[in-house]
Amino acid sequence: MMDYRKTDLEHLWHPYTDILAFERQNFPVIQTAEGIRLRDTDGKEYLDGISSWWCVNLGHNHPHIVKSIVQQTHRLQHSITGGMSHTGVIRLSKMLSDIAPAGLNRVYYASDGSSAVEAAVRMAVQYWWNLGLPEKNNIISLEGAYHGDTLGAVGLGFLPKFHKPIQHVVNRSVQAPSPHCFHCPYADNCSLQCFSGMEELLRENADTTAAVIVEPVCQGAAGIRIYPPEYVAKLRRLCTELNILLVADEIAVGFGRAGAMFASNLAKTQPDLMVVGKSLTGGYLPMSAVLATDEVYDSFRRDNGRDRTFYHGHTFSGNPVAAAAAIATLEVFETEDILEHSRVPAELMKDAFVEFGGIPGVHRSTALGCMSALEISEQAGSADTAAAVAANALKMGLFIRPLGPVVYLWPPLVTGKSDMEEMLGIFGHCLKHSLKDAMC
Ligand SMILES: Cc1ncc(COP(=O)(O)O)c(C=O)c1O
Repeated sequence: MMDYRKTDLEHLWHPYTDILAFERQNFPVIQTAEGIRLRDTDGKEYLDGISSWWCVNLGHNHPHIVKSIVQQTHRLQHSITGGMSHTGVIRLSKMLSDIAPAGLNRVYYASDGSSAVEAAVRMAVQYWWNLGLPEKNNIISLEGAYHGDTLGAVGLGFLPKFHKPIQHVVNRSVQAPSPHCFHCPYADNCSLQCFSGMEELLRENADTTAAVIVEPVCQGAAGIRIYPPEYVAKLRRLCTELNILLVADEIAVGFGRAGAMFASNLAKTQPDLMVVGKSLTGGYLPMSAVLATDEVYDSFRRDNGRDRTFYHGHTFSGNPVAAAAAIATLEVFETEDILEHSRVPAELMKDAFVEFGGIPGVHRSTALGCMSALEISEQAGSADTAAAVAANALKMGLFIRPLGPVVYLWPPLVTGKSDMEEMLGIFGHCLKHSLKDAMC
């Protein structure tokens, strides 16, 4: 029988993991999962408080998704989408176009969020080149943005803690101030004063800007910075006025997370390009996509002999097994009315985080849809205390991962009332105890 923990430490390189701290820890080795629970090799169960990196929105081992994957593996495992097509990816593209914000009628597939973001940015830049405006080639993003870890995506986001060592090889985009509500001087009197920085930047650089990319309503990796949908609506209007494309990175917030199918729906906006990933396949297989308007797509047609082809693609683009998982996921959204169901955990979390926000040592708390977060104040030990909350929660059977001083819950949308109460009970207990220890 393999000693999994020992063999892991000998051979595995874990992403976003402090090696020393990890080696000292009796980390769980997960073997199976069901619903919102992960089970390790010792038989211990953990509530999945972050939907396994924000993607298992429908819970683990959903029978319909699993069955669809299994059936598809017997039919067609892989087939190229360059210059050819297959039935699954055609069905999926129609389904995605039908549920996406109006106008997003064309679907391009990639393998993970970062690669889809890069594709979207290339589409935006080439769109203007196709139209004979090659000088419109800059991308504007938000401070604190996170759009992935490939070099191009890092250039759009850039979080110093993560990306400082590679700063010299990254082509950084111009960034507008973040709508950072936790540290906003106008928090109680918000009329989107934070938008003025974005507006100024766009007006000054309209002639050279291809697109603005944002994570609508929540800058996730920066620390679950939830911000008003009206910001996105304003941005849409300004982009239209200034002839700049709007790219919505819905990799984290898409597929029901923010309380609507897409966060862009909350803002009642239609981006020119929308990027999805993570929960597209229920989080079961890697697949991402860029949805584009016909206007963007049509600009890539050969024009009077001028080649405007999109020379960009990935081997596993539109993989049939991943496509089957995605089709099944979208079917479950409809047949089980997941959006309606998600209101149960969302309401419970919202109320609980209002209460947590009043605990001494908590700077502020926030909630939207099925995401909720709070920031631990400097006096209460910031990131160290946040790490203590997570470590204590793990011992009590709840898996969470803080982002610096921010601790948050991002549970599967299908979390039921009693499971959510259990999760909040452990979270609240660990929060109170860790804060008490830090402040005494
Ligand atoms: C908003 C956003 N964009 C892009 C990415 C990158 O996706 P991936 O990790 O699949 O490359 C993430 C990942 O967390 C994300 O949250």
